[in-house]
Amino acid sequence: MRYQGKTVIVTGGGSGIGRAICERFAREGANVTIADRNGAGARALAEELGERALAYEVDVTDAAAMEDLVATTVARFGGLDIMVNNAGIILIAPVVETDFAAWRQVLEVNLNGVFLGARAAARQLIAQGRGGVIINGSSGAGRRGVANLAAYCASKAGVISLTQTLALELAPHRIRVNAYTPGHILTPFWETIADGFAGRLGVNREEVIEQFRRSVPWGRFGTPEEVAHAVAWLASDEAEYISGQCLAMNGAEFLW
Ligand SMILES: NC(=O)c1ccc[n+]([C@@H]2O[C@H](COP(=O)([O-])OP(=O)(O)OC[C@H]3O[C@@H](n4cnc5c(N)ncnc54)[C@H](O)[C@@H]3O)[C@@H](O)[C@H]2O)c1
Repeated sequence: MRYQGKTVIVTGGGSGIGRAICERFAREGANVTIADRNGAGARALAEELGERALAYEVDVTDAAAMEDLVATTVARFGGLDIMVNNAGIILIAPVVETDFAAWRQVLEVNLNGVFLGARAAARQLIAQGRGGVIINGSSGAGRRGVANLAAYCASKAGVISLTQTLALELAPHRIRVNAYTPGHILTPFWETIADGFAGRLGVNREEVIEQFRRSVPWGRFGTPEEVAHAVAWLASDEAEYISGQCLAMNGAEFLW
């Protein structure tokens, strides 16, 4: 019960990795706001987690709504301790075939959405004056370029850079800021990835998944729970001296 009495917001909390992070914090006693564009997914999880969970339907690209997400959480639970900016989308296309609107949408959700979430949380944490933790969802794809993932890679590299700057700016307030960079974690996200690569590789969706599985030295996909373990630790007092860092969970896939 490490997080009893603490309050956590998780964006993209209605599915996959975000869902596992919400479950993990709730199991350790936290109040959890499940923030997601998919209101039904957020509400279903809140019902499962019980009275210490709040569902909040939000698009992370809406600046005013992100401020309201924090204000509503504080009104309900009395404060904020941990912000996890996890929501993200992916686009599979080579640069020459990438529509500008689609490029912008990926940057809008994956990078600008993290900026808005981190900024809203930081304002609240500074005002409270008792420190706090911000954890941003990046990706192995934020550490290097990957063919067909230009927008995604650029957005996730931006998250790493933003994390480093925030860590410097917020250290005087005792607010730690870190990122996590998963490798291949089997979630509904992979439906989009499998569809995107199936056409390009000329194989079916199952074969795409199998090819990615084989590319992992550990021989399997990671689970959302394995990401949640690492995020819960990063948020804990044991990580007190860790800020501005990226933690990878990738089955020894060093290039990611
Ligand atoms: N699954 C992987 O292999 C993997 C690897 C590296 C990084 N990641 C990152 O982890 C994060 C979570 O991915 P996942 O695999 O759980 O995906 P997922 O698709 O299962 O979940 C993503 C959630 O984000 C929500 N979301 C998307 N756009 C939103 C918006 N504009 N506003 C609010 N909510 C929004 C979705 O509704 C969904 O509930 C993403 O940022 C993703 O880029 C995933």
